[in-house]
Formats: sequence, C-alpha cells, structure tokens
Amino acid sequence: MCGIFAYLNYNVHRERRYILELLFNGLRRLEYRGYDSAGISIDSDSVPSADLGRNFPANSMNPLVFRQEGKIDQLVRSVYEEVDETRLDLDQTFSVHTGIAHTRWATHGPPSPRNSHPQSSGEGNEFLVVHNGIVTNYVVLKETLVRHGFKFESETDTEVIPKLAKFVFDKLSEEGGRPTFSQVVLEVMRQLEGAYALIFKSPHYPNELVACKRGSPLLLGLKEFKENSDGGTPFNDVKFLTKTDNPKELFLSSDANALIEHTKQVLVIEDDEVVHLKDGGISILKFDSDNAKATGGLPRPASVQRALSILEMEVEQIKKGNYEHYMQKEIHEQPESLKTTMSGRLIQEGPGKVKGILLGGLKDYLKTIRRSRRIVFIGCGTSYNAALAARPFVEELSGVPVSMEIASDLLDRQGPIYREDTAVFVSQSGETADTLLALDYAKKNGALCVGITNTVGSALARNTHCGIHINAGAEIGVASTKAYTSQIVVMTMLALAVGDDSISSKSRREAIIDNLFDLPNKVREVLQLDDEMKDLAKLLMDEQSLLMFGRGYNYATALEGALKVKEVALMHSEGMLAGEMKHGPLALVDETLPIVVIATRDACFSKQQSVIQQLHARKGRLIVMCTKGDASVVCPGGSCRAIEVPAVEDCLQPVINIIPLQLLAYHLTVLRGFDVDQPRNLAKSVTTQ
Ligand code: AGP
Ligand code: GLU
Repeated sequence: MCGIFAYLNYNVHRERRYILELLFNGLRRLEYRGYDSAGISIDSDSVPSADLGRNFPANSMNPLVFRQEGKIDQLVRSVYEEVDETRLDLDQTFSVHTGIAHTRWATHGPPSPRNSHPQSSGEGNEFLVVHNGIVTNYVVLKETLVRHGFKFESETDTEVIPKLAKFVFDKLSEEGGRPTFSQVVLEVMRQLEGAYALIFKSPHYPNELVACKRGSPLLLGLKEFKENSDGGTPFNDVKFLTKTDNPKELFLSSDANALIEHTKQVLVIEDDEVVHLKDGGISILKFDSDNAKATGGLPRPASVQRALSILEMEVEQIKKGNYEHYMQKEIHEQPESLKTTMSGRLIQEGPGKVKGILLGGLKDYLKTIRRSRRIVFIGCGTSYNAALAARPFVEELSGVPVSMEIASDLLDRQGPIYREDTAVFVSQSGETADTLLALDYAKKNGALCVGITNTVGSALARNTHCGIHINAGAEIGVASTKAYTSQIVVMTMLALAVGDDSISSKSRREAIIDNLFDLPNKVREVLQLDDEMKDLAKLLMDEQSLLMFGRGYNYATALEGALKVKEVALMHSEGMLAGEMKHGPLALVDETLPIVVIATRDACFSKQQSVIQQLHARKGRLIVMCTKGDASVVCPGGSCRAIEVPAVEDCLQPVINIIPLQLLAYHLTVLRGFDVDQPRNLAKSVTTQ
C-alpha cells in the first residue's frame, strides 16, 4: 500500500524536467502497490519568503508542492499545466537537488489533493513529509500542536509529522544552537507512535533529505560515478557508505522496483534507523527509544556502519514485455519462475542415485522442526491458500500435525502458540501487516519462526529465525499468481527436507523430486489452455456468481481460483470444500449457476465423482477440471464442460490445477472491462491492519 520515493542528485547536472520525469517514473514503478492519490515536491526558482521571519540558508529554494487525487497521469497533467501557468523553467539545471514523491492509499481522510502527500508544516512549506503507514497517536499530537497555534488543513494523521518537525525545529533553534536535520527528525520520531516510513524535505536544510522508518519498508539506492562529469561510468563495486565528493545519485524507495533501473546497489533500511543525505555523504543513525525515554531529553543516536547489498533482479522483471498486463505476463512466466524457485535446491546425483533437497536457509533448523509439537502455517489471502495446498503433504512427510491460521484471526483470538511450535509465515511481499504482527506474537510466545517470502530484505525475511526465499521474481500484478505456485513448491520442498530422514517414504520422496524436475514442462503444457479459458470466459462473462468445489489437495485450488475471480474480475465467486456441499451450498444449485468442480485423479477422485453425480441430479451447470483423458469419465456423453489438465504427483497437482483458473480470471477481467493489474480498492502490499 502506498509508495514513497525520493531522488537526490549530487554533483550531477540535471534539468528540472529530468528530475520531474524521474520522480513520476519512480511513482509509476510503485503504482502496483495500490494508491488513490499522488504528489511530489521539487524546488522552485525563488527563495523562501523572508516574511516567515526566518534566516533561511543562502542556497535555500522555495519548495513547490503538487498533489492530485486519482492516477499518476492526472498528477503529471496537473503539474505540467501549473508549470505552464507559472512559467516555471523546466530547462533550469541543478547540480544538486532533492525531490520527494508519494502515492497515497488513504487511511485517514478520503482521497483529495488536500489529503495527499507531501504534507506540509504550513505556510512556506518549512517541512514537507511523505509517509507510508499510520500514526496511531496523532489525535494527542494534533491537540498539542493546535494548542501551540498550528492550523491543520488535511484530515490525515500524517499532517502532525511536518508540523511537529517545525515545532521541534523552532524550539531547538530558540534554545540556542541550530539543530541538524537529523536531530529534528530524531526528536519527531521520539514522539511518534505507529508504523511509518518517512522522507523529510525542508528549505531550512537545502539539498538534504532525511528518511526514517519503523514498520513500513524503505530502501536506499546509490549510483556513484567515477568521472567528474555528468553521466560518467557508474561504480558498480561500492561496498560501504563512505562520504565522497564523487558525483552521485541517491534514491529512496518503498521497494526495489523503483530502484532497479537506476542502480543495483542498495541498502535495506532497518527499523529505527535515520538516514541523512547531505553534501554527498550518507550517515545512518540508530534511534534508541530506551535511551531517549530514560534521559527524557534529545535522543542520543549511535552512528551505524552499513554495507550495501546488490539487488538480484533485472530491469526486464518490472517491464511488461510483449504482454498486455503484468498478471498475464506473470501467469505465462510460471515455467521459468518455478525453475528459479527450484534452482540449486533439487539434488540428483546421477541417474538412479541420491535425490534430495538442499534448503540453505533451513538446514540448521530441520531437526528442531522435526521435533516440534506442531507446525502452524500463518498467512493471508493467496499465501494462506498456498499453505493450505501444501498442508496435506507436509503432514504426511513430517508426521507433525499441521494447523492453519489466517494471521488476522490468530491475532483476534490471541490463539495458542507454544514454544514447541514451528510457526511458518508465508507472504509474497514479506510486508503484510497482519502477518508481521502475527510473527511478533509467535516470537513472543517462543515458537521457532520460519519465513517463506518472495522479497529479499523484507521485514518477514529479516525478523524470522530462518526461512526460504521463493525466488519467483518481481510480482507486480496485485493478483498473486506466480508467487502462489512457487510458494507451494517451496513448501513441498520444505516437507521433503523435513521428511528426509524417513526410510519408509523414500520412494515417495524420489517420485516427487522427479516430478519437480519436470514440473516446468507440465506447467508449459497446461498454459496451452489459454484460448480454451478465453472461450470459457466469454461464456461466463455476464454471470453474477461462480462456485468452485474442491477437496483434499485441491480444496486450496477452489479457494484460490475463486479469490482470483473475485479480486480481478469483480465477480462473486466462492471456493468450497466439496465435502461440505450437502451441508448447505447444494441449495444454490440450479441449471443457471455455473459451478467448477475440481476432480483430477488423486485419493479423493471417487468422492468427487459422486459430487458430480449429485450435482447432475440437480441439473447443475458444471465445468469439471479433470486429468487428461478423463473428460468422458467425468462428463459422460458431454453432460458438462471439461477442462483437461496434465497429471502430476497428487501433492503437486494444485500447481497445475490453479493455472486454468488464473487464466479464466484474467480473461473474465479483460472481457468485463476491469483493471487487471490494479483491481478496485486493492493494494499489493497490505501494510496496515
Ligand atoms: C492475492 O491475489 C491477493 N492480492 C492477496 O490475497 C494477498 O495474497 C494477501 O494480501 C497476502 O499478501 P502477501 O502474500 O504479500 O502477504
Ligand atoms: N496514513 C496516511 C494517510 O492516510 C498515509 C497513508 C499511506 O500509507 O499512503 O494519509
């Protein structure tokens, strides 16, 4: 949800037009996270007003603020209209400049230009802030600030932040010495409660930026040039953040997607770190809340040395290539994404020899997992469904009972989690607030916490005891597709690794490992159903509702297929346990309501055949997903429509079976004319509770 982005060019000459476009592009890259309004701030060509009664530094420029409700293109249009009206010189060149940008996903106050960010300290924009998250104590802070004469213009929680910054700045300035920009921010942090990633810009500190975070994600990207000329060769081997006068460009962003086209050298900012960008240097201070509270005075930050890491992604990953939509691209890329997920992890030492699984991030913990009293899978939405798909196999191979928890429900109930539990957290983004809060909860209760995520450096990856990256590559469509199949494969590999010590399951394990090797080919095969699913979508596009029945391994497929249809095609759809059909849902069945029944060959096949018969007996309008060659078995005499899919080992069948349903959801969305990649009201990373 929401994105923040900033750009600082130092000793590199950039025109205002270039800076504007770079900020807009940064926002476009973050667009997929979900937003309802956007805004930016850059410098104008006038100096700040002396009427404010302040001595602004000589090189200080008035910040310009542009904010719009709606899509980024609306912001872009309004900025250029204003630029035309005010005759702002787009060709003006800056050798050093700071710009900040924001996409907002409203939590406090409806989307409107006034509620968009940057939020301001008031007249003269002495402090400007872009914020991702929620300030939970904003009511108290606002009351105090109002008592001190501040006038609030927005309904946001965020507005207290720039106003508090101005209050702190004024107070510290009156008390004598001029505070540094980071001192102001540290003092603001001391008073803020909630979750946030923040970037501050101020004419009191020209060409400086300060960023900090607690809870919400934030990355720093660095591009340093060798030659003292614009656009010289970048250094690709900077390891540590040392202050140099080398020309450089610095970026701050909520995620790597907005950085990758500029640089691969990044730093994942940790909670309570304050990053101060000034005069070509990057200093990182650690906010110590205990220290701040104990002394009751200004926090005494310790300076931190951090090494840069290299982003392991390519620019192509964030481009649509020849596809119309990211969701379409991500569905079709599954043979490759699954290959990457398994790469280096499947071992097969020569034909007929040792077969095994190597999970580097988990190897020291396998014994503990085997000995645990229970494995608890915890996640939300698609990630929860992926865990549900893997559950039967994890139970089978580990011999440990597996229970399932939707993260928010676990927290609502404060459900039991014990020291002897292994809690496995599944999250594509690694940023989902509910999942992260459940992680805190499980940690406090002493469980071993394992993370399964697609996002290197995410809060989930950093805060779990151990884990596995799914390595599916950037997933930009809000509807999760390739991450789902990679998550199932990772959990299957987890089960194989945990069950590795059992002799009785050896041949079963080996058969599955063989199937994993071949899985990308089978996925390629099932993707050939694309046209068939498009035809089916044409048939179903005007329906009000769609039911999906599954059981065993494919109960999750029914839930996930229905989730895809509802979230992107905006059509009511329910996934149901076929065993529960007779206990209520059967009442809905008539000759009009379309029902998908998943009946591929596994231990539940004969039970699903009776479900089909019972539905037929009520003249149900059936679409049956079955194993290749079974169409005449499940739909005798063409009594229903069959979707034939290739057969794989039962525990991997959900990977195959979900793909036609992903394709169906995609085509339904296109035909019904809805936004595929950014469905109404949804965000890719749900960073608020
Ligand atoms: C998936 O299509 C949905 N957009 C949503 O259910 C998602 O899976 C859920 O919000 C969890 O996200 P996570 O995997 O990033 O934690
Ligand atoms: N809570 C802030 C607001 O409603 C920030 C929301 C966001 O993360 O975009 O403005």
